Amino acid sequence: MMRLGSCAAVRGAARAIMRPRIAPVQQVCSSFHAASAALHSAGPSGAANAASSSAGAGFSEGSSGAASFSSIDFGFREVPVSAKQALVHDVFAKVAQSYDVMNDAMSFGMHRVWKADLVAQIRPAANVKHLDVAGGTGDIAFRVLQAARKEGLPPAYRVQPDAQQQQDPEAAAAAAYEDAAQVIVCDINDNMLRVGIDRARTQYGYEPGALIKPAEQGADGSTTPAPVEGAPVSPAAPVEHLSASRIFARHGPLAFVSGNAEALPFEADSFDSYTIVFGLRNVTHRERALSEALRVLKPGGRFLCMEFSQVVLPGFDKVYEQYSQWLIPAMGQAIAGDRASYQYLVESIARMPDQRRLANMVRDAGFVGVDYRNLTQGIVAIHQGFKPVR
Ligand SMILES: C[S@@+](CC[C@H](N)C(=O)[O-])C[C@H]1O[C@@H](n2cnc3c(N)ncnc32)[C@H](O)[C@@H]1O
Repeated sequence: MMRLGSCAAVRGAARAIMRPRIAPVQQVCSSFHAASAALHSAGPSGAANAASSSAGAGFSEGSSGAASFSSIDFGFREVPVSAKQALVHDVFAKVAQSYDVMNDAMSFGMHRVWKADLVAQIRPAANVKHLDVAGGTGDIAFRVLQAARKEGLPPAYRVQPDAQQQQDPEAAAAAAYEDAAQVIVCDINDNMLRVGIDRARTQYGYEPGALIKPAEQGADGSTTPAPVEGAPVSPAAPVEHLSASRIFARHGPLAFVSGNAEALPFEADSFDSYTIVFGLRNVTHRERALSEALRVLKPGGRFLCMEFSQVVLPGFDKVYEQYSQWLIPAMGQAIAGDRASYQYLVESIARMPDQRRLANMVRDAGFVGVDYRNLTQGIVAIHQGFKPVR
């Protein structure tokens, strides 16, 4: 069995790998503690034993009836429902710069294996239109585009737009891209998306253009310009529904859009496939995110969720529990000077519904052909479902 080694050894190795990237995280971690303190004062505490009850939707029912919920899990703590999104936003705003390096360190590189496995399952077609929600710094998007390019010949772009398309340059551009693989990364956190845009340019040679900020939509159909960049996306506000093909026409194969999984800023029936990877546990109303996934997929389109889950091998679950309880927060502290963010990570994993409950939630949202498979003995599970063909 692999020995994890002493904390000091891990710290030493990690420092060697991470030295150039430590500073930004240390700068931001103090404001996490401030948020964390606000959180303690914001809601009723004492839910530290919630891991055992865990696995539910995460809501505590309000006294005014079944439809109104007053508190929700944020790690092991209970916070007002309205506070969770901002707290999650704060965590990822702070870890954005070190997110990719920490991912490698915490999972000993395993997140790469899991993500490769997920994309192999998608097996994206050469002309796939894919949406990656909670896509953060773009890891899944880059992999989907690379895999799609290996599927079949390079796209045969249409060079001769028809008469109608010639009247509308964007329609012509959309038609030109029809046969190409295209991916939109959507995330509620601009800091994460900004890192993704930089990676797209510097590591992968894409030119995704500016971050897209959809306008908010009033009940009367009026629109309000997008909030300033960096501001948290409003959790409840309806947003304009953008045309995916127009986004692709303007941005090419890869675009980054600011948006909430619970209220996606895209027209219905837009995508062949949808992924949410290590994202769903951070979403406040998971059932809303699932029904939005269903809405934006084309009939027959495929939903995939990769998330930390319940370890299924007796004995290994105890080892993993010890590792996650003690070593991950310690690594967060040693490597990034930020114990609290990584404590939240561990706690949010423990509060995530197990494999069967999540499969039921996916079914309840209206997906068909729902199943899941475990990776690394259930440390991670991939859930899949399809939008019914009408
Ligand atoms: C652990 S990161 C995962 C990033 C990426 N999918 C990956 O696997 O590397 C979780 C991401 O979920 C995003 N997120 C949290 N709540 C969200 C929401 N309601 N809508 C969209 N994104 C959300 C965070 O901003 C963060 O980028």
